[in-house]
Amino acid sequence: MLVASCFMRNPFTPSFGAPPPSLVGRADLVADFGDALDDGPGAPGRATIYTGARGVGKTVMLNEAEAQARSRGWLVISETATPGLVDRLTGEHLPRLLREHGENGGTKRRLSGITAVGIGGVNWITTDSPPPAVSLRHQIEELTDALAEHETGLLITVDEIHRKLTDDLRALGAIVQHAFREERELAFVAAGLPASISDLLNDDVLTFLRRADRHSLGAVPLDEVAQAIREPIEGTGRSIADADCRTAAEATNGYPFLIQLVGYHIWRQNRTESVVSTGDVEVGVAAARRRIGSLVLEPSLAGISDVDRSFLVAMSQDDGPSRIGQIAVRLGVDGTYASQYRLRLIDAELIASVGHGMLDFTMPYLREYLREHAAALGLPRHS
Ligand SMILES: Nc1ncnc2c1ncn2[C@@H]1O[C@H](COP(=O)(O)OP(=O)(O)OP(=O)(O)O)[C@@H](O)[C@H]1O
Ligand SMILES: [Mg+2]
Repeated sequence: MLVASCFMRNPFTPSFGAPPPSLVGRADLVADFGDALDDGPGAPGRATIYTGARGVGKTVMLNEAEAQARSRGWLVISETATPGLVDRLTGEHLPRLLREHGENGGTKRRLSGITAVGIGGVNWITTDSPPPAVSLRHQIEELTDALAEHETGLLITVDEIHRKLTDDLRALGAIVQHAFREERELAFVAAGLPASISDLLNDDVLTFLRRADRHSLGAVPLDEVAQAIREPIEGTGRSIADADCRTAAEATNGYPFLIQLVGYHIWRQNRTESVVSTGDVEVGVAAARRRIGSLVLEPSLAGISDVDRSFLVAMSQDDGPSRIGQIAVRLGVDGTYASQYRLRLIDAELIASVGHGMLDFTMPYLREYLREHAAALGLPRHS
């Protein structure tokens, strides 16, 4: 039977940062952040960091945290850790919010707070402009003072935090910490890849980040995944059998990006048919598997060193978990040396310890990808 879905949009969202049609397995975390906003200054969750592998849903969690804040009437500044972060806060976001919500329209301090603004293509700097960190503190204080009168607050989110931006994050962290001490209605949520976060946490000056509530996002439960594949399909007037839905869910390994990628490719097969068939699921899963490499695995491997990659290739020879001693033998290195690779790769959340001396991949299809691409990655192909 045909359905009128020729022009219906595919309900799945396999692109980074896109809100999924149904959010799987994160309800508790979202509620925890909402509680931290309700619990008032001093709630540990008011400084939160989400970390995890590529495509695990960090940006989506920042969006959810922002929605929690907005639903309580809070203001939100949503930023990414790119150069000029503090300047954007002091020169754009905070002046705009002060204009809209500050006392006296924020005029007095806004002027002295702006350090560089483009007007008609001309950049000017006020003669008595304080350094950005001082402006940042004043502006945040002024805004949170004004918001306190309405019993709301300010949430600042920063996506993709990493070491290159240590100075800006340090300045922002110090001010947020100070605001916490003064019991201001302020919350800070950041997200970043595990290796970037641990780099930052090793910087002594970033004690603030070290004290933040850190959540490592991982795979989500498969029964919830099946539901998250079924509902969007049914929402477009089509149906899928239980067994096919389970097969699709299993193919995702509970990895959020794959939920969207698998769903997307299953849905687009024979899109005008009212039933998603077993054949559609098989073809859709295969299409998703072919794409996961270039979309997620390749970028994840690009961020690590050649020696770390050769460790992964050595692991990919096993059909299941690998024994660390055996990997050392394959690589021709001693155990201590192999343990150092191991730690770095666990830190990057590409592999995990699964029992005494045993390691396994965390990302679905990484083993298969490494086997297929060992030569292209410039590494010895496994025997
Ligand atoms: N809990 C979830 N349930 C269903 N789909 C999800 C979930 N979290 C994320 N997704 C989907 O997974 C994809 C990747 O999400 P997101 O961009 O948030 O990942 P990320 O961890 O920020 O990745 P990166 O490290 O590359 O920035 C998106 O298509 C999103 O819709
Ligand atoms: Mg992201």
